[in-house]
Amino acid sequence: MGRVALVTGGTRGIGEAISKALKAEGYTVAATYAGNDEKAKAFTDATGIKTYKWNAADYDASAAGIAQVEADLGPIEVVVANAGITRDAPFHRMSPEQWKEVIDTNLTGVFNTIHPVWPGMRERKFGRVIVISSINGQKGQFGQVNYAATKAGDLGIVKSLAQEGARAGITANAVCPGYIATEMVMAIDEGIRDKIITGIPAGRLGEPEEIARIVSFLASDDAGFINGSTISANGAQFFV
Ligand code: CAA
Repeated sequence: MGRVALVTGGTRGIGEAISKALKAEGYTVAATYAGNDEKAKAFTDATGIKTYKWNAADYDASAAGIAQVEADLGPIEVVVANAGITRDAPFHRMSPEQWKEVIDTNLTGVFNTIHPVWPGMRERKFGRVIVISSINGQKGQFGQVNYAATKAGDLGIVKSLAQEGARAGITANAVCPGYIATEMVMAIDEGIRDKIITGIPAGRLGEPEEIARIVSFLASDDAGFINGSTISANGAQFFV
């Protein structure tokens, strides 16, 4: 059995591609999901990857879920904080609930996912922390004050964790996908989405597998000196 990898939001979208890619690399993967039992079952039937249901926004549920994964599969050595949601609205119409839901899931959820696995990584002197941020954390986005704040916050998390973990053999890096062909992007109004695609020099959306391959590399031993970095994959839509 290979190293154990935890992927939050690992049964759909970019997370699904990451779970599959890590399994193909020989990792023992645990994929979490928040609500869609039917999709999770279909995912396990198709891939043989074990799924766990908890809400990343809930610290106690995350800690208990992670303890269960470790009891079932062994110590988590790779953690991919991928779970995320959107509640898009122009700022003047954004409700405090829309703000809070996104902060709780996309930012506090990243804390909740990494914090319970961090002590074990420090003890074992090895860990790979990979956070899925977004192009919109780098450039901001009309209608995404909440989401952009969380995705920019992810970059602060990995830059800080990188410094804290480096001596303990732990790396922490972020991936910033651009617009990728997932349900989340397909949920954008078609006219708006077409305009967005026009603004991508590559002339197309990215594929989830194009993000998953970056994660596989960051998880590998070869990436040991890459720490605190942000890797963008956005078809030349935006440069930092
Ligand atoms: N820049 C400037 N003005 C803009 C604008 C933009 N990017 N987008 C819209 N506007 C303007 C519109 O032209 C319109 O102006 P008028 O009233 O003068 O015509 C006004 O703002 C209102 O726009 P909408 O009609 O679109 O407003 P809405 O309330 O119906 O919808 C919205 C608002 C939900 C935010 C919608 O604009 C939208 O979905 N935008 C896309 C947001 C986006 O990119 N989300 C990414 C989701 S995927 C993801 O998050 C994954 C990832 O990491 C990349």
